[in-house]
Amino acid sequence: MSFLFAVLYAAYDRKIDVPACIPFNATFKEPRVKQVDNTTYEVYAVARMWSFEPAQIELPVGSTVDFYLTSNDVVHGFNIAKKGVNMMAIYGAVNKSTVKFDKPGVYKILCHEYCGVAHQNMQAEIIVNYK
Ligand code: CUA
Repeated sequence: MSFLFAVLYAAYDRKIDVPACIPFNATFKEPRVKQVDNTTYEVYAVARMWSFEPAQIELPVGSTVDFYLTSNDVVHGFNIAKKGVNMMAIYGAVNKSTVKFDKPGVYKILCHEYCGVAHQNMQAEIIVNYK
């Protein structure tokens, strides 16, 4: 019985431990969009009840973006419509996804993990346009 518990615990631990555990306030104290070069960006995004920061992200067409995501409270989802991105925002952990935006448009970010009464209002947007 205790062996089974140990296995389950190890599996659970591994699952939430990927890819990195950092203190929430070290990298994400100021959610931001960082330009690396002409076509490369990094977004440090924070989910909390019930919003995302930054709430609006503007990018030029052709951008490749590394999204680094964490939560300031409970588990949230981070779904970028039309891009097939489905990440979890977890307090104390950082998840990463790289996305290229080849076409102009407005890409909604939606929380797809139930997180409380205003869950359905929890969203942000990415605006991709020509410079
Ligand atoms: Cu955050 Cu649902």
